[in-house]
Amino acid sequence: MSTQHGPDIGPRHTARRDNGLFRTKSVEQSIQDTEEPEHTLKKSLSALDLTVFGVGVIIGTGIFVLTGKIAKEQAGPSVALSFIAAGVVCALAALCYAEFASTVPVAGSAYTFSYASLGELPAWIIGWDLILELALGCAVVAVGWSGYIRSLLDTAGWHLPAGLAGTHEGHFGFDLLACVLVLALTVILVLGMKLSSRVTGVVVAVKVTVVLLVIIAGAFLISGANYHPFIPPSQPSGAGAGASAPLIELLFGFTPSHFGTMGIFAGAAVVFFAFIGFDVVATASEETRHPQRDVPRGILGSLAICTVLYVAVSVVVTGMEKYSRLSVDAPLADAFKDLGKPFFADVISFGAAVGLTSVCMILLLGQSRVFFAMSRDGLLPRVFSVAHPRFGTPYRSTIALGVVVAIVSGFTSIDVLAELVNIGTLFAFVVVAVGVILLRRSRPDLPRSFRTPWVPVVPVVSVLASLWLMLNLPAETWIRFAIWMAIGFVVYFLYSRSHSRLGLRNRQNNG
Ligand code: ALA
Repeated sequence: MSTQHGPDIGPRHTARRDNGLFRTKSVEQSIQDTEEPEHTLKKSLSALDLTVFGVGVIIGTGIFVLTGKIAKEQAGPSVALSFIAAGVVCALAALCYAEFASTVPVAGSAYTFSYASLGELPAWIIGWDLILELALGCAVVAVGWSGYIRSLLDTAGWHLPAGLAGTHEGHFGFDLLACVLVLALTVILVLGMKLSSRVTGVVVAVKVTVVLLVIIAGAFLISGANYHPFIPPSQPSGAGAGASAPLIELLFGFTPSHFGTMGIFAGAAVVFFAFIGFDVVATASEETRHPQRDVPRGILGSLAICTVLYVAVSVVVTGMEKYSRLSVDAPLADAFKDLGKPFFADVISFGAAVGLTSVCMILLLGQSRVFFAMSRDGLLPRVFSVAHPRFGTPYRSTIALGVVVAIVSGFTSIDVLAELVNIGTLFAFVVVAVGVILLRRSRPDLPRSFRTPWVPVVPVVSVLASLWLMLNLPAETWIRFAIWMAIGFVVYFLYSRSHSRLGLRNRQNNG
């Protein structure tokens, strides 16, 4: 099968370095692999589908839940600045993702990019790391969704038994609703991308309408006095010291504190969760009709829309109610309730519950595509990368992951895990930005329909910005992250290294 660059997969194109940990898989080889009939995904998505996917996965727990928590505990009304800071970090990363996705339009996102530029071990590390972002992210959002549904059910007078209502404040309960949601979404994903994007379209429309409702209706309820002080003065955090303080404060010997300028950045490291998902658009590039043109449009378009909405929502909500009085669980709905507008509150809760389903679904979709790509490369068992003969979807990886994520979501509580999701995602941003620079050097010849501007300045700034946000996460999050990555190394050396198809090809070529 010929590719754009001809059928010749010569030594340079097969592997830059022959063997070992840094063997790279050529872009041509990646594209060629997607053309094997058994392992081919259906190409049905347009730029609009991708933008809808992007907005569908980006707007979620971050804006519906974390805005209140961060305004109340870290940043006050300047949470809007936290959103801008996190948005800038994401925009820099998005420019790098867009170049990569337009050059290597293959399922797997950061994983595939790294395989083409940095080598097999870094690619494995990133694939393993993406499990934190996607699978764990999906579980966290499913738990958030179940909280909203339970509160709606409570309003209607139906109460789940405590043993099935999730874990709260140390009391264990299996989260039945979260588990059922993930299983239902798994079925939808197995049935096909087109169905998935239709479901997403409806959900996204509801969600965006609700967000606009908050902005427009809330704007009439703003009281200017609530914005003073806009950046509350810094306060020592007392009990919050130790491993739960941001790493940067421990490293540089600052007294751990809330609010002030540092509070804006500590807040940004958490509300960053609200932006997670634009990179997932890149995982669907193999199923896009014109990936080189449409994937960058989908990534940058959805990110721009969400940034504007987030800043507007946070400005409105901190204007409606004093930051110190905002609710931590459902800040948007509760602000309306507190101002005597319960009807708006109910509509917002309903919209949030509907909206979180699409976040969960697309995170799961992204994870199954990364899993599919890793399996196709032999780094995970190959049985997971057979596409369904009728639906053209990676059904085995979708089902396997759906079941695992459903179980995890049944046993998970949100807070700590959201920070782990953030550190995993920021780490992927760092690797992708480095990859853009390396691939420009090693393969300047490749057609790039989207080019990151001012390389290497933008990727370098992107790396620094992502690292900065990572440093603003708690030290304990870093420890959990290190443990997870150490497990990944063990799996690589025990299984993936010897089963790698690229390694096998290289051995055959050499022998
Ligand atoms: N950005 C997504 C959310 O906020 C993950 O839920």
